[in-house]
Amino acid sequence: MKFNVITLFPEAVKNMLSFGVIGRAVEAGKIQIQYFNPRDWSDNKHRRVDDRPFGGGAGMLMMYDPLYRTLMAIKEQDADTRVVYLSPQGQPLKQVDCNYLATVNSLTLLCGRYEGVDQRFIDRHVDMELSIGDYVISGGELAAAVMVDAVSRQLTGVLGDESSAQSDSFMTGKLGYPQYTRSEILGQSGVPTVLLSGDHKKIASWRAAQALAKTKQQRPDLMAGTSEGK
Ligand SMILES: C[S@@+](CC[C@H](N)C(=O)[O-])C[C@H]1O[C@@H](n2cnc3c(N)ncnc32)[C@H](O)[C@@H]1O
Repeated sequence: MKFNVITLFPEAVKNMLSFGVIGRAVEAGKIQIQYFNPRDWSDNKHRRVDDRPFGGGAGMLMMYDPLYRTLMAIKEQDADTRVVYLSPQGQPLKQVDCNYLATVNSLTLLCGRYEGVDQRFIDRHVDMELSIGDYVISGGELAAAVMVDAVSRQLTGVLGDESSAQSDSFMTGKLGYPQYTRSEILGQSGVPTVLLSGDHKKIASWRAAQALAKTKQQRPDLMAGTSEGK
């Protein structure tokens, strides 16, 4: 799968995605990430990409023209790319969105800066506007890195063990279950005995019960409307 990231700070996103699971996926060619800086498509001698908003108000906006030219350059390579604008005004990003976006061949992520982007670019060229949470950060780069990571995890061959994504939080509509591992300081103290029993059937049902209990406690909204949520 190919990701195209439109950003004024390509190095920032590249650094975030250059290690761990995603860094290895890039190196192995499982995913391809290309970076496009709208300054390279500015017709201004100072490579300017922002201007004051019509009607006044604080701050600057990313201008339509450099973004349009950037996107056209991307579409020359990937005509059918799906365009996502990372924005606090978007729909909240969910696991189902990531699972769905992992099925497309090319995904273009637009990182806003300043006060955001000329609305006409969003209206004409953006397929989905997605938010990583109800708070405002200074630019879309962190959000784009979140999306590349969350989408890539759903692609075959990106995780060492495919089954690990299946037991992740949200994959079954619930949170994950608590886990424990070796500690020389604590020994086995505090580890639920069932996990040391070797009885895989019992372990699986303990984990399912724990996942349900944790979800009801931490995120009852995930259970609303389900038979288990009653
Ligand atoms: C300072 S913010 C602009 C906020 C905008 N003035 C507003 O109030 O909606 C600059 C950029 O950061 C990104 N951004 C900020 N918060 C975000 C969030 N919660 N989710 C995704 N992107 C976000 C967007 O790309 C946005 O264009």
